Amino acid sequence: MKKVLFICLGNICRSPIAEAVFAHLIKQRNLENAWSCDSAALGGWHEGNPPDHRARKVLSNHKIPYNGVARQIFSEDYNDFDFILGMDENNISSLKGDAPQNCKAKILLLGDFDPNGERIIRDPYYDDGIEGFEKCFEQCVRSCNGFLDQHSS
Ligand code: 4NP
Repeated sequence: MKKVLFICLGNICRSPIAEAVFAHLIKQRNLENAWSCDSAALGGWHEGNPPDHRARKVLSNHKIPYNGVARQIFSEDYNDFDFILGMDENNISSLKGDAPQNCKAKILLLGDFDPNGERIIRDPYYDDGIEGFEKCFEQCVRSCNGFLDQHSS
């Protein structure tokens, strides 16, 4: 069983969307015995909270369930997970700065697996509307499919 942890700053917008999409895809592909996933935040501000209402709306529009609440990343996560996938370059620098030496997890951008080559999943938290969340969702679908295509053969 390989484990993937999706990371963003607050764990209420981008990484819960990525986690929900990935969980949906592994179910769809009958890979639930091969892969598991979780998500977490770099910061602790939203610990225990459900995702932002706009993230929940986008997921429900696409009929994808999500029941998680935000948590901050633990130091153990770096050796518990096989992949830690961040959303933007700031996430990656924080993760690499905090990771123990020789940690097990590969720290990568989720967008590295986007077949369209759109590597950065921008933070939509301060946007007025839901469009940034829909765009984040589409990027997560492409990138999670790309990741699974690359790692499941
Ligand atoms: P996320 O978005 O990292 O995609 O969950 C954010 C949510 C909250 C904050 C920043 C980004 N915040 O500063 O509270």
